[in-house]
Amino acid sequence: MMECGLRPSPTRVISLWTLLIGSFNIAGLRQVSWSARAESLDAVNLSAVSGGDATLPCDTRSPQPPDALLLVVWYKDDVPIYSYDGRVKGPSAHWADDTLTGRARWHASPHSALQIRDVVPSDRALYRCRVDFKVSPTRNYKFVLNVIELPEKPKIFDEKDKEIVGVAGPYIEDTSLKLSCVVSGGKPMPRLRWWRDDKVIATLPPVEDGSRLSLLELKIPKLKREYFEAVYTCTADNTALVPSLRANVQILIYLRPLLVEILAREQPLSVGQEAVIACRAVGARPPAIITWWMDDKQIMVNEPQKNSDDFNETISFLRWTPRMEHDGHVLTCRASHAKLEHTTIETTMPLNLHYIPIVALQLGSKLNPNDIEEGDDVYFECVVRANPPAYKVVWEHNGQVMTHNQRAGVIAGSAHLALQGVSREQAGRYVCTASNVEGDGRSPPVNLLILYKPICKNRETVIIGAAINEAAKVTCEVNAFPAPENFQWTLNNTMGTVELEPGKFTIDSTGRSILSYTPSADTDYGSLACRATNLAGQQIEPCRYTLLPAVKPDPPTNCSTLNLTDDSAELRCVAGYDGGLQTTYIVEVWETDTLIANVSTTTPVWKLHGLGSGKALTLLFYASNARGRSEITTLRVHTLSRLALQTEANTRNTNVDSSWALGIVAGIVGTLIAVAIIALVARRKHHRPIQYEAPMQTVKACKGSIQVVNHSPLQPDDKNPDVVPLGKDFNCTRDAERPPEPPPYGAVVSPPVGSSKSTHSLHDVRSNTPNTPASDIHSIGTIAEDRRSVTSGTLSRRREVVTTRTPLLANAKESCV
Ligand SMILES: *[C@@H]1O[C@H](CO)[C@@H](O)[C@H](O)[C@H]1NC(C)=O
Ligand SMILES: *[C@@H]1O[C@H](CO)[C@@H](O)[C@H](O)[C@H]1NC(C)=O
Ligand SMILES: *[C@@H]1O[C@H](CO)[C@@H](O)[C@H](O)[C@H]1NC(C)=O
Ligand SMILES: *[C@@H]1O[C@H](CO)[C@@H](O)[C@H](O)[C@H]1NC(C)=O
Ligand SMILES: *[C@@H]1O[C@H](CO)[C@@H](O)[C@H](O)[C@H]1NC(C)=O
Ligand SMILES: *[C@@H]1O[C@H](CO)[C@@H](O)[C@H](O)[C@H]1NC(C)=O
Repeated sequence: MMECGLRPSPTRVISLWTLLIGSFNIAGLRQVSWSARAESLDAVNLSAVSGGDATLPCDTRSPQPPDALLLVVWYKDDVPIYSYDGRVKGPSAHWADDTLTGRARWHASPHSALQIRDVVPSDRALYRCRVDFKVSPTRNYKFVLNVIELPEKPKIFDEKDKEIVGVAGPYIEDTSLKLSCVVSGGKPMPRLRWWRDDKVIATLPPVEDGSRLSLLELKIPKLKREYFEAVYTCTADNTALVPSLRANVQILIYLRPLLVEILAREQPLSVGQEAVIACRAVGARPPAIITWWMDDKQIMVNEPQKNSDDFNETISFLRWTPRMEHDGHVLTCRASHAKLEHTTIETTMPLNLHYIPIVALQLGSKLNPNDIEEGDDVYFECVVRANPPAYKVVWEHNGQVMTHNQRAGVIAGSAHLALQGVSREQAGRYVCTASNVEGDGRSPPVNLLILYKPICKNRETVIIGAAINEAAKVTCEVNAFPAPENFQWTLNNTMGTVELEPGKFTIDSTGRSILSYTPSADTDYGSLACRATNLAGQQIEPCRYTLLPAVKPDPPTNCSTLNLTDDSAELRCVAGYDGGLQTTYIVEVWETDTLIANVSTTTPVWKLHGLGSGKALTLLFYASNARGRSEITTLRVHTLSRLALQTEANTRNTNVDSSWALGIVAGIVGTLIAVAIIALVARRKHHRPIQYEAPMQTVKACKGSIQVVNHSPLQPDDKNPDVVPLGKDFNCTRDAERPPEPPPYGAVVSPPVGSSKSTHSLHDVRSNTPNTPASDIHSIGTIAEDRRSVTSGTLSRRREVVTTRTPLLANAKESCV
């Protein structure tokens, strides 16, 4: 594959001549005359490099020691050129011919020799050294000095005769190469050689053809990859005295990319998640240019590509966020050469993207979504598109995860949901959620509509109070889908059952019918029934109402304070029968004789503010409607003392301090009185069993204590002097601070519900309860309490018993301070 040798083309020689002629050493062309060629036959050959030193040895030691050296004479081609006179001391002993131009010097030691510096070609000659002694015979030594002229440094030329310095090329891969090494001069003519590393590839032996140029070519017919950056050396030598002259050249080749590959990823590509994809190209010089393409559209890469240290390998990183529409498309990585056309190679990667499931929910195709009735079978299909495939599908109904329950007719599979015999509770929003490693995909909800016959919202019979000749509004509300179009109202009384005319009631769009009914005689009372009809049919069980004559309301019961502070209170009662009319609930707050607050609400719940701290209050609750007022329920409370609040304690004025002191004194007095009474009781009734019934509440707040004390005439213990009414203590009051005289409303046994005789004057209340001690202001009760005292006398009796033990009193004292 490589041819080396003398250049074949004469034209090339001429061109080289013209290039090199200027640097030729013209002096070197001179021919040296070999006048003493015959004498040189027995001479010793010596070589010296032009410009270097030559040493011509000549033994001047006398053979017989007492003998003395007289004269040493050097002849060049038999012409004396140098002498040394042994009889003369000092420098004048030496003589040199001018032709030597001072370059020669004879040394006696260490070995006597003539040394010539800066040897020139004209020094080439036959030299003779004659040594004369006093006694001994003369001696002669002959030398042929051969002056070697070195050639010039080799020069390397390319195909275009351009001189190459260091680097040749770049060549294109697989093309041929021809380099010429040219050496001029040299005597004798030099030997030329091409080397690669330590191997001689081509040699040109010295040719004495009279020319002064030597030329050796290096030919490589096909530049393969292995020649990339190969270093070739041309050497020229014509003597072993000095190292050969040399010139190096490195061969540069453009190499096309060999291989391109997209590096495998551990993680699959996921839609919406930025990924880094690497593409590697190998073999190109200069390094390949890597580009990325998606369906013939280039994707720009911001990061610069990276080259390996030897530039053989190039990697490009594509930072890219795949989108759903890329799935199934092809990503291409191309490696191209900057200079070489048609050498681009590419690799592709089909995009198999992973993504969160795409889910759609469909109602069974055979079902009419607008005509599903209770009892029908319903199917849903969950259409899932997912990669990797979904590992589970979860069904939801109105936000609740559904479980497979064959018994309840719920068959939940991964693709289908079957509901056997649907009920109206199963109407609503259905969603299916499919999950894979990428996440959970929810379907848009599908609203399942189920037709069902109307059902009464309130299943209990509602009592409606209506006054004669007053229009009562009766509302019939049903649950139905779709909303009912028709209602039917019937009245059932002693006269039988009659259907009411449609003009008496209204039907609104929400499926409500409001009957406006005006009884004009006793016979117009009875039971009302309402039946609605919708697409699914007529209501089976009607809504029922009992129409009763309107009366005044029952009192609120079970009243309590929910949150009592030093200034506010939250109050709540249980409402009684409202008498069939709109009723307001009223609380009056009294402190002694002063009305502090009077609040009416539509529900028996109140929030009172600005009551003032540390006050004993009497709360009167009652209900009121157009027929009148109910009886009163009483509750006594103490608002909290502000002294309890440490933050304010220091800022109180003396007024408070005096009241505080007063309270302590009163407490002590009260305690003494109580002890006295207890002592009395204990003495008189020590034989009686003592019953402990002490609600050990933390009376500091008197919270939630209902201060209702029964004083029914049926109560046997009422007048028992041994009994201390419990209410006193619960009320947290002391004798010194008796509660205010409440407004003159009294307890009364209310007539039975439905009675028309329900109005009582306030004075009647008093007169109707003669057994109530006028002085006992705690005796205000309600009808309910009265009834309880009758039916559970022992209970009430027990509650009123106070023992001789003092904790209760201590409690009272503590609480009332
Ligand atoms: C010296 O050189 C000449 C010619 O180059 C040769 O003929 C001769 O034999 C040589 N003498 C010795 C001693 O090598
Ligand atoms: C470049 O790399 C390829 C593949 O590894 C190898 O075959 C080739 O020899 C390398 N070339 C160089 C110049 O290192
Ligand atoms: C009417 O009321 C009576 C007695 O309450 C009852 O027996 C009867 O079944 C009712 N009739 C209708 C049609 O509701
Ligand atoms: C009365 O209140 C008490 C405690 O707040 C409660 O346990 C009870 O059920 C209530 N009674 C009624 C009839 O609401
Ligand atoms: C009690 O009432 C006070 C004052 O109105 C209020 O700040 C507090 O939140 C209430 N506490 C409760 C438990 O309702
Ligand atoms: C409290 O208010 C009601 C009406 O809201 C009124 O009838 C009643 O007389 C008032 N009470 C007092 C004591 O003023």
